[in-house]
Amino acid sequence: MRVEQNRNVIIQRQKNMSKLNSLKELYVEELRDLYNAENQLLKALPKMAKAASSEELKDAIESHLEETQTHVNRLEQIFEELDEDPKGKTCKAMKGLIEEGQELAKQKGKKSVLDAGIISSAQKVEHYEIAGYGCVRTYANLLGFQEAATLLQSTLEEEAETDKKLTQLAESIINAQAAEAEEEEVEVK
Ligand SMILES: [Fe+2]
Ligand SMILES: [Fe+2]
Repeated sequence: MRVEQNRNVIIQRQKNMSKLNSLKELYVEELRDLYNAENQLLKALPKMAKAASSEELKDAIESHLEETQTHVNRLEQIFEELDEDPKGKTCKAMKGLIEEGQELAKQKGKKSVLDAGIISSAQKVEHYEIAGYGCVRTYANLLGFQEAATLLQSTLEEEAETDKKLTQLAESIINAQAAEAEEEEVEVK
């Protein structure tokens, strides 16, 4: 029984470690990584929104959740055209980024400070996705997959837009926090 289990584990590993002899193979491998990353996010974003205190931040995370579903759909469309399976990879980087974000959200402290921390976790996720989509978009162009390149570019732009929105939110939350701190100082005097 145990031998059989070990054999299955080895077969699974070999399946996950496909060979990379061509740009197309790398393209598919990286698309699978992103597909898994996006699916992890579908589960993590609602928890992140719940942990946020600011209504604006909650809204921003929730609207990015909807976009994330679109990103998954686009990847499925690309895989269908490639006649490849989107599953089979675990994005360890996204797993780590989400774990760090959840760790932070569990901490106690001032709401605005925790919100600033949630934003920073979310921005790290966006930057990972921006790097990933930038690469696969370029590969799609090089490989002559015009339609896929257009879809990947749309996702890339939405990730970048989210990152910008998060920066603006962070500035407003941190500014409010600074103003509060100043008021407290005045009170102490
Ligand atoms: Fe995404
Ligand atoms: Fe994203």
